[in-house]
Amino acid sequence: MCGIIGCNGVSAAVPVLTLGLERMEYRGYDSSGIAVIADGKTEITKKKGRVSELINALRFKPQATAAIGIGHTRWATHGEPSDENAHPHQSGKFTLVHNGIIENHTELKEQYLKLTKMKSDTDTEVAVHLLNRFYSDGCLKALAHTARLLEGSFALAVICEEEPEKLFCVRQSSPLVVGLGEGTYAASDTAAISEKIHTLYRMDDGEIAVLEKDKIEFYDFELNKIRKAPEKFEKSSYASDKGNFEHFMLKEIYEQPEAIRRTVDAYLNENGFNLGLKPQKPERIFIVACGSAYHAGLVGRRIFESLAKIPVSVETASEFRYSEPLVSEKTPVIIISQSGETADSLAALREAKKRGAKTLSIINVKESTIATESDFVLLTRAGPEIAVATTKAYGAQLSALYLLGIYFAESFGTADKKELEKMKKALTDLHKSVSAALNCEEQIKEIAHRLRHIDRAYFIGRGAGFAAASEGSLKLKEISYIHCEAYAAGEMKHGTISLIEKDTTVIAMNTQTALAHKLQSNIDEVRSRGARVIAVTSADSKISADETITVPEVHPLFAVSTQIVPVQLLSYHIARLRGCDIDKPRNLAKSVTVE
Ligand code: G6P
Repeated sequence: MCGIIGCNGVSAAVPVLTLGLERMEYRGYDSSGIAVIADGKTEITKKKGRVSELINALRFKPQATAAIGIGHTRWATHGEPSDENAHPHQSGKFTLVHNGIIENHTELKEQYLKLTKMKSDTDTEVAVHLLNRFYSDGCLKALAHTARLLEGSFALAVICEEEPEKLFCVRQSSPLVVGLGEGTYAASDTAAISEKIHTLYRMDDGEIAVLEKDKIEFYDFELNKIRKAPEKFEKSSYASDKGNFEHFMLKEIYEQPEAIRRTVDAYLNENGFNLGLKPQKPERIFIVACGSAYHAGLVGRRIFESLAKIPVSVETASEFRYSEPLVSEKTPVIIISQSGETADSLAALREAKKRGAKTLSIINVKESTIATESDFVLLTRAGPEIAVATTKAYGAQLSALYLLGIYFAESFGTADKKELEKMKKALTDLHKSVSAALNCEEQIKEIAHRLRHIDRAYFIGRGAGFAAASEGSLKLKEISYIHCEAYAAGEMKHGTISLIEKDTTVIAMNTQTALAHKLQSNIDEVRSRGARVIAVTSADSKISADETITVPEVHPLFAVSTQIVPVQLLSYHIARLRGCDIDKPRNLAKSVTVE
């Protein structure tokens, strides 16, 4: 949430900053801004709305030939989206951008800034006034003083007219990396600076970085110098191209088969698994995640329990972290996260480690904080995902969980060997069936046209089908703003069925062939009360509904992977017909770095 960027010693800071902000817009898109120092003077431009509006505003200003600058794209936490609340914020000669939440901003204002008139409603502004107030003997000292006082999460990038050749950065519980190339750079996400740097430094919590044009120095908040190991950074080009697709989301749905193939091939070949992990059968496994990654975890539970015979608890990270979880060295914790930066998931990881648990993370971004801090990392190979609503990364997470489930079963001897061999083969071929599932798009477009005006929908399923229903419901609500609920099909009659009336839309996910007849009863129950039911099912399973979307038959354990495809497409097409901003839905951000 919120993306920050900084650069120093570059030939033109403005385009570096705006390009970086465009790439980090997935982190927040209600306002954005930049500040540069040109000819000793700070120039700030900030705008409510998308980065494109900031870029427009910059057109009317003479392009500064500044070598140093900072930028921000915002997801509002304190204060509505507006020009005033947009970052950067300024006080005296200091200007800063912030990602995170300064939790004690009210107390700090009361104690140190009683007479200061605030220009915004943000928690951030306090920090810049403190810098100005504590400045007497150099920026670094003022920054360390301020950082020691702040509570909460903060990644800061600061420039100051007193020392215009230095960019200052601070990291505490919000992501920030710095790097060297032609100049020096800082960003919330390496994607923002990926082709600019050859050397990367991962900042840890409690660190300050001072970036000059060709060197970076690190300090703790007491100003002790820290030596940090540089990492070679493979310059990468950025996948910012929608190709022939109208939206990133549709492109990413179509990239799902490839994301699955690459993830499976990375860890499983004709010689077997190469996971580099030696598991011992644990008492219990905890799976912890947020959003769609949590829904992937629900599928993971079915896989681990049925194949590896291990009891599994799946929890949302925001609940897990404060629940005094009963984890120990006997109960490994699996964290699932696309970004590897989700604040609650990171806190859950740290909580699990504190309690002695071994941690394994399933992550899509190699350089992320969760990947760095986990004992073992299984990287999904979905590639960069741009649309806020995840599709291909979710598909890759499911494959990673299948891999682990089969591997655990093989290692613990809990499943028939021949059956496991069959599953491995089926998993290697899964991407082909997912690709064939995309053929339903024309049928989906017609259904979407009929459903474009609905104001609510229910998703039902049993077992893994309920997990798929939960993900389907989230997809539709987040991008189309239609109220959706997911229900375990057998639970409907305990209350929610009272909401079913003539023409209510119900989408039934039939992933559990063995339970198809049970799901059929639940479908009949809602149909007899007027619901119009669309069933998503595999070719081998007969289900009768008002309309059926049939996807290729796969091993029953993997059915969510094929059946989620039509639901992703349906959400996409309904949202498109409703004119929604599909890749950047309102109020959301892709990387949620505040709790
Ligand atoms: C946000 C995204 C979701 C994602 C969730 C968890 O809400 O919009 O698509 O599932 O965060 O993110 P993570 O990066 O931890 O998977």
